Amino acid sequence: MAFATETVYGLGATANDGRAVARVYEAKGRPSFNPLIVHVPSSEVAQTLARFDDAAQRLAAAFWPGPLTLVLPRAPGAGLSDLVTAGLDTVAIRVPSHPVAQALLTEAGVPVAAPSANLSGTVSPTSADHVLDGLDGRIDAVLDAGPCEVGLESTILATGDVPTLLRPGGLPTEAIEDCIGPLARYEGGVVAPGQLASHYAPHSALRLDATHAEPGEVLLGFGQVTGARSLSATGDLREAAANLFGALRALDGTADRIAVAPIPQHGLGQAINDRLRRAAAPRDRA
Ligand code: TXA
Ligand code: MG
Repeated sequence: MAFATETVYGLGATANDGRAVARVYEAKGRPSFNPLIVHVPSSEVAQTLARFDDAAQRLAAAFWPGPLTLVLPRAPGAGLSDLVTAGLDTVAIRVPSHPVAQALLTEAGVPVAAPSANLSGTVSPTSADHVLDGLDGRIDAVLDAGPCEVGLESTILATGDVPTLLRPGGLPTEAIEDCIGPLARYEGGVVAPGQLASHYAPHSALRLDATHAEPGEVLLGFGQVTGARSLSATGDLREAAANLFGALRALDGTADRIAVAPIPQHGLGQAINDRLRRAAAPRDRA
C-alpha cells in the first residue's frame, strides 16, 4: 500500500517477501529493477539489516528519523528479498520521521521496501491524490496524511572509504558535510543512482531465449522450458521476478554459461528481460 512520509508518498511492500516486492515494480510499471529503499522505524532496527561504519553511525544519530537514506553493506542473514537490492551487496535504508510512516512501520514489524508511489517516469507524489492519479486500481490502499512536508525525495548517501552523494534531496548536503566532512559527488546524473551504481552481474556468461542447454551450459527455465532450476514453473512473472537474482546467484559458476528460457515481454517480463540483457551484455571483467 502507499503511505505518507515526510518526503514523498511511498509504495510499500514487505521487504522480505519477493512476491510482494515484485508487485511494487508491477504497479509502478517500472521497466527495470532499480534497487528500492528499505524503511524501518528506528536506527536500532536498521543496524540489524546493514553494517554501519563510523560515519554512518554519526549520520544516523544526527539525522534519523528524517529525509536521509544511507547505502550500506547488507548484513548477512538480514532476510531481505534479493529483488529489493536488485542483487547488490548493499542496501539503501531510511528511517522516516512522519508519524503515519512511523506508525505503519512499527505496526508492520517488518522492513518495508518502498519506492516513490508514482508510475515509472512520472514525478514523485506529495499527496494521496497524486498517488491515486497514477496508481488508482493498481494498489490496495493509500494511507492519506495530507501533503508531504518536505516534498522532495530523501538525500541518498553511500558511506565507505569516500562518502558519496548519490542523490541530492530533502536533507541539505551542507548539514551532512558539517557532520562527517566533505562529500564526493556522484557525477553520473541524479535520476536513478541505482542504475549507475555497480549492478550485480554473474561471472558466468548468459545466453538468452534458450530452450535447451548446450554443452557447457546450465539452463534456467521458465514455464514450459524446464532446466536445472526454474524462475517459475507455472510461468508466473511475479514469482519469476522474486526468484531472478537468487537463481542467477545459485547458478553462477556452476557452468561456463547460463542459458535462460524466453521470458514474455509484458508486465514484469520487461524488467526481467532488461536485467537479463544487462547481465548478458559483454563486459570488461578486469
Ligand atoms: O524520499 C524517498 O527517498 C522516497 C520515500 C518513499 O522514502 N523514496 C524514493 O524511492 O524516492 P525511489 O525508489 O523513487 O528512489 C530510490 C533511489 C533509486 O534511484 C535507487 O536506484 C536508489 O535509491 N538506490 C536504492 N538502493 C540503492 C543501492 N543499494 N545503491 C545505490 N542506489 C540505490
Ligand atoms: Mg522515484
